[in-house]
Amino acid sequence: MRTIIEPFKIKSVEPIRMTTRAERERILAAAGYNLFLVRADDVLIDFLTDSGTSSMSAEQWAAIMRGDEAYAGSRSFFVFEAEVRRITGFKNIIPTHQGRAAEKILFTVLHRPGTIYLGNTHFDTTRANIEYIHDTAIDLPIPEGLIPSKIHPFKGNIDLDRLGTELKRHGTNVRGVILTVTNNSGGGQPVSMANIREAARLAHDAGALLVIDACRFAENSYFVKRREPGYAGHTVLAIAQEMFSHADAATMSAKKDGLANIGGFLACHDDEIAAAARNLLILTEGFPTYGGLAGRDLEAIAQGLREVLEEDYLRYRTRSVEYFCEKLQAVGVPMILPAGGHAVYLDAGAFLDQIPPEQFPGQVLANELYLAGGIRGVEIGSLMFGRTDPETGQPVHPPMELLRLAIPRRVYTQSHVDYAAEVISEVYRRRRELRGLKIVYQAPFLRHFTARFERL
Ligand code: F0G
Repeated sequence: MRTIIEPFKIKSVEPIRMTTRAERERILAAAGYNLFLVRADDVLIDFLTDSGTSSMSAEQWAAIMRGDEAYAGSRSFFVFEAEVRRITGFKNIIPTHQGRAAEKILFTVLHRPGTIYLGNTHFDTTRANIEYIHDTAIDLPIPEGLIPSKIHPFKGNIDLDRLGTELKRHGTNVRGVILTVTNNSGGGQPVSMANIREAARLAHDAGALLVIDACRFAENSYFVKRREPGYAGHTVLAIAQEMFSHADAATMSAKKDGLANIGGFLACHDDEIAAAARNLLILTEGFPTYGGLAGRDLEAIAQGLREVLEEDYLRYRTRSVEYFCEKLQAVGVPMILPAGGHAVYLDAGAFLDQIPPEQFPGQVLANELYLAGGIRGVEIGSLMFGRTDPETGQPVHPPMELLRLAIPRRVYTQSHVDYAAEVISEVYRRRRELRGLKIVYQAPFLRHFTARFERL
């Protein structure tokens, strides 16, 4: 059959509160034209993030009741540890309350003055945690990864030539090569096994660690199965296991491919790194058998990790993102192609080419989708990543102006996607009417969360 159905039935539902455009005009003005400042109840379809927004399964809710809340040696920890080890093969499994806590601990433990990390594209919390301790993160995506319309099966790959050059240039200052799978900031695009293998070889030859940012490891593994020669006959689990076998460590946000609402982990082979990490964990997160989580959360993650590797689920998951893209492509909406694993990334720079980067085309588009249809997405462009050059005082813009529409896992149905595509198509038809925004308030760091705007 051509129709791929949601491979689940719905047992429990949450109502969506309908609003009118006039109501949304008032809500958005009161929020200073920043969708982070809008209440979730005032959103019809929330594509802000796929993080922590999954629907849990009946089995996960059942696992929650099995949670053992012992402070030390909780049974639930061993269930969690066994599942993470089955997939990743790592010796040391350290739970954390979410992905960024694992990042913070790993980078703190690895820190030496002058440390550099090289990656396909560091996610914003990853980069922020590296820069916070005065280390350096350098992004080395393949050139195809920066051209939205360019079709390539593994646009998330790291540029191996540049990786080789940078490893030579920086020598032992490079402590790690970080591969984010899928590459979130670059469009949810996958990284190939060949790329992981070769990046690991280069890293190891240079005495650096290969670290996988594993948030969306199952989606990445499924793309390898579908697109990389030689993997069609492998199970997704076997592909994931092979992927991790090339790495020395992994950080994970279980809020994505853990199908859980909170949680994460740091995993590694090296006992010294693990010992230092556990000491820091005790200081900031909690005892090593719960790491900032409740026992029930550990159970929900363990069960989520089993479910996320089911191929019927992954087929539906990747197909629903692709279906969304196809509907938009049919009416000419510019976006990152091919479809990524967890989100549709509209090319706001091309969509609103009358609005220059300094007037935030991605944010204008985010606002208009909210006004037109109650849809909430997130700008990934000059608002999130723009900065002022300290020498010239001139604004520096990122290579792409994007609006990300992240699809929560197992939450929305095909009619929600049809509706969203209709809203976007309607906004696309009258795109010439839209005007830019001006910032009237901004914080010194991560300004996109709290900035306020005026319409030009
Ligand atoms: N790495 C990647 C690739 C991510 O996408 C995220 C979170 C993190 C690390 C941090 O994990 O949120 O559990 O601390 N991404 C979310 C998003 C917030 O919307 O893409 P966390």
